[in-house]
Amino acid sequence: MDKKIRFAVAGIGGMGKTHIEGIKKNPLAELAAIFDINEEFAVKCAADNGLEKYYTDFDKMLAEEDIDALIVCTPDQVHRDYTVQALRAGKHVLCEKPMAQTLSDCREMVKAADETGMKLMIGQVCRKAPGFIKAKELVDSGYIGDLFFVESEYAHDYSRIPGRGGWQWRTDPVLLRHPVIGGGCHAIDLLRWIAGNPSEVFAYANRKMLTSWPVDDCTVAVMKFPDDVIGKVMCSVGCKRSYTMRTCLYGSKGTIICDNTSPEITVMLEKLDDNGEYLGLDTEKIPVDINNHNVASEIEELIDCIINDKPVPTDGREGASTVAVGAAIVESAAKGDKIEVDYNF
Ligand SMILES: NC(=O)c1ccc[n+]([C@@H]2O[C@H](COP(=O)([O-])OP(=O)(O)OC[C@H]3O[C@@H](n4cnc5c(N)ncnc54)[C@H](O)[C@@H]3O)[C@@H](O)[C@H]2O)c1
Repeated sequence: MDKKIRFAVAGIGGMGKTHIEGIKKNPLAELAAIFDINEEFAVKCAADNGLEKYYTDFDKMLAEEDIDALIVCTPDQVHRDYTVQALRAGKHVLCEKPMAQTLSDCREMVKAADETGMKLMIGQVCRKAPGFIKAKELVDSGYIGDLFFVESEYAHDYSRIPGRGGWQWRTDPVLLRHPVIGGGCHAIDLLRWIAGNPSEVFAYANRKMLTSWPVDDCTVAVMKFPDDVIGKVMCSVGCKRSYTMRTCLYGSKGTIICDNTSPEITVMLEKLDDNGEYLGLDTEKIPVDINNHNVASEIEELIDCIINDKPVPTDGREGASTVAVGAAIVESAAKGDKIEVDYNF
């Protein structure tokens, strides 16, 4: 291919910069334009990346720049509008997780992708984390036998994430981002990827850590997956612990303990002799590479899907399914009842 895929990035905060690094690493990609509503950030980002221009007006960027694809790294609350507008302008889109905050936003995004035929990828980055990839490979191959219980968690301390320019959209009391949909989506998506779509959820939630914020900060949800597998997701955004997504996958022959930050995953397997007599548990440590944030693999995959016209594995419906489970968890905790997940989009 002689022409590189020309990317624009919307929102050049923490994730925007990580995506820019991913674009720069890829020989088939080129950074064509950047957009942010904060001019000071945009000026600096353009200078740091050798761009002559920057944009604080999204319409202007779409009109003036010859771009093939947009990466949406703005706060969750504004994913829908930039994504739909770019798709309808004939651009492919990689939208950061969560796809959106509501199912109606997800539906609009799916519709825009369907109607335009442009590629829409949702950045469910845990599917690119080497430890989780290895864990899924082992589960799929039957290495730990039949799954019966899967659990994952999103444990963070949002009170310790400084806001850019003094503003933190994650905990803005007006924007009301629910942490289960915004952050817990990582754990939900990981379990969906490994165990399938849960049909029904039940959740409890409390607000004992970020008490000035009008949203619960800790949620525990249990759910029913296909083939009678049970699952659990814990999401806390005020906990005093270092960030990691500890995940346990329990099968009839063994158990996998893994996360997205450790250089190895642990597999415990039951050891039997030739007569089937129990000899004990074997513990295996499998090394994994944790040297990048894995968005480079997302960009690589999107480019492959564009060039070779392949379907995107984490397309709009996949992203929306993860939001749907999150929305059911939030509703269950509020109502104190089990909720069926609505996968209608
Ligand atoms: N995949 C992951 O592991 C991961 C990790 C962190 C964040 N995220 C997601 O990435 C997105 C960005 O998060 P972040 O941590 O980079 O946030 P950030 O606060 O570091 O950056 C957000 C940027 O968006 C800009 N912005 C704010 N409102 C805007 C608007 N209306 N239009 C255009 N730009 C706007 C801000 O000026 C800022 O530069 C969020 O959706 C978040 O959930 C994903």
